[in-house]
Amino acid sequence: MILITENITGTAITQLREQLDVRFEPELWAQPDQLKTSLKGIKALIVRNQTQVTADIIAAADDLQIIARAGAGLDNIDTQAASAAGIVVTSTPQANSLSVAELAVGLMLSLARQIPAADWDTRAGGWNRQVFTGSELSGKTLGVVGFGRIGALTATRAKVFGMNIVAHDDYVDPDADYVKELDAKMLGLDDLLSQADFITCHVPLTDSTREMFNDELFGKMKPGAFFINTSRGEVADEAALARAMQKEQLAGAALDVRQVEPPDASSPLNSLSNVILTPHIAAFTNEAQTRVVDAVCRDVRAILKGEPATDFFNFPKPQSCS
Ligand code: MLT
Repeated sequence: MILITENITGTAITQLREQLDVRFEPELWAQPDQLKTSLKGIKALIVRNQTQVTADIIAAADDLQIIARAGAGLDNIDTQAASAAGIVVTSTPQANSLSVAELAVGLMLSLARQIPAADWDTRAGGWNRQVFTGSELSGKTLGVVGFGRIGALTATRAKVFGMNIVAHDDYVDPDADYVKELDAKMLGLDDLLSQADFITCHVPLTDSTREMFNDELFGKMKPGAFFINTSRGEVADEAALARAMQKEQLAGAALDVRQVEPPDASSPLNSLSNVILTPHIAAFTNEAQTRVVDAVCRDVRAILKGEPATDFFNFPKPQSCS
């Protein structure tokens, strides 16, 4: 009745598996043909970001009432096809924002002080203090591209370090209270790129953000800037980023998300110094994952009981589309 196609665990999932008919197939995301067959008779599908819930997959489901996304981004779900089929789509937009913001700040500090490289060097027997002379965050300008919940939480933390905030987001009112409270200056993208010492990206993946960070945009960044991406890998052209690093246009880059996940082992980024690469772990804290699975299980249980979902994207209850 419930199908989980990725490695999603936690107390709420354990309880769901004890109490309801749950098929836990954490590798199924990698087998789309098998997934189509497995969807027969399934009422609730629980996914993270690896399962590509395409129109084709949705068409193969004969009884699906809810697609519950354990996480924020809905780019792996054809929400239009789901809505047309009357299927409720939920996500957990609030649950992991804080963890993502904390990682973004952690990556900024790690870049500014070259913490990973200093660690490797010391383990290898080095004691090179001057080599690892870094820079302070205080007094620097943070450019936040995508100034929604995560961008604002990141900026709030950056303010504590004494950073100045500039932000770009076509959907944010420059007079919004939180913009004023953060004393953030809303700028056009080109102005932000030319002013920011650190650029942190928090945009969703859409047709207009796909590969938005390309040769042209990296070329517009202030020389010596640092680029941090904890949003979606596809928003940055990694080959262009490697070129910008090689030309020393950028002083460093940190990617928690990649154009292809898992990434190719031969990526040119692997051999560049002051590039930090992490495996899409921004949302992976005990606290965020507890909130994520609690929210997912709450909404799945509600739908199966005929009650409305809370964190719905399209509609709170399944629609009859006959
Ligand atoms: C999200 O969209 O919530 C995060 O990127 C984490 C994830 O995809 O699981």
